[in-house]
Amino acid sequence: MDDFQEFLETALVTQQESIKAYTLDSGKVWLKKASERHGLWLYTPLKWLAKIFNLGAIMPVPNQGGSAAIQCEYNRIQQLKALGVSTPNVLALSKKGILLEDLGSQRQSKVKQLDQSLARCKDDIAGKLNLFTQAIQAIQHVHLQGGYLSEAFARNILVDKDTHFSFIDFETDPASVLSLHDCYVRDWLLYIFSTAYHFEFEQLSEASQILYRALLAEPQVYKDICKVGKRLNWVLRLNVSRVGNDGKRIQKCVLFLRYLREHGEVK
Ligand SMILES: Nc1ncnc2c1ncn2[C@@H]1O[C@H](COP(=O)(O)OP(=O)(O)O)[C@@H](O)[C@H]1O
Ligand SMILES: [Mg+2]
Repeated sequence: MDDFQEFLETALVTQQESIKAYTLDSGKVWLKKASERHGLWLYTPLKWLAKIFNLGAIMPVPNQGGSAAIQCEYNRIQQLKALGVSTPNVLALSKKGILLEDLGSQRQSKVKQLDQSLARCKDDIAGKLNLFTQAIQAIQHVHLQGGYLSEAFARNILVDKDTHFSFIDFETDPASVLSLHDCYVRDWLLYIFSTAYHFEFEQLSEASQILYRALLAEPQVYKDICKVGKRLNWVLRLNVSRVGNDGKRIQKCVLFLRYLREHGEVK
């Protein structure tokens, strides 16, 4: 048994949290423990929208929990690695947990969740749009290799100092319930839902133009994303001031989708 395997087995006995960071002599690591859990996604208002509108492509993919989820995380990481996608190195694996190298150590550069990086841009709109654009290119690169993500939320996309992107959180496999095509659509929808709110209403057209240009390479995927947007269009008729922050967030996503569609209509 190597040191990492031994550490995994020992730490699993005492770790209460489902994921926890440790600093070992070799550097920082993350231990993900098998547990019955559901993504936060289940509790977002978007889940209800997805349910009401029967939006197959964004419905949460079942997290089987326990050792199945851990094995899934391992398999998906290896799958993506084989395609050249940046994911955490697996240091040790057991039925009850998985030990991952910290991406900051792995890349020898500080990493942040894309969510936080976008938020830190504040009024630097050019910087924010640039980050948004580069993340789109990184996701598209995964798709062009025939790969897909699991939960393409901005919090599961890590970005380092050189704006190199890595992907994490693979306890689910969307392809177990969706076609590869729908996995692509889902990746983009989750990306939009987790990033559009970082922009002001008046910046959404420009942001969606960036995705529009990227999706010229994936016309059928673009069409299906627009279809989802169309079904959600009624949201824009709600009075923003009465729907609070969650409402505003959803409205920004829907508006983003509407602009995305309109870029394709103007000829
Ligand atoms: N290999 C890693 N390198 C750096 N940060 C990580 C790594 N794995 C997990 N994290 C951090 O822990 C958080 C939760 O991990 P994640 O795999 O997304 O689990 P969850 O299923 O709880 O969302 C991430 O958002 C990230 O900040
Ligand atoms: Mg996560």
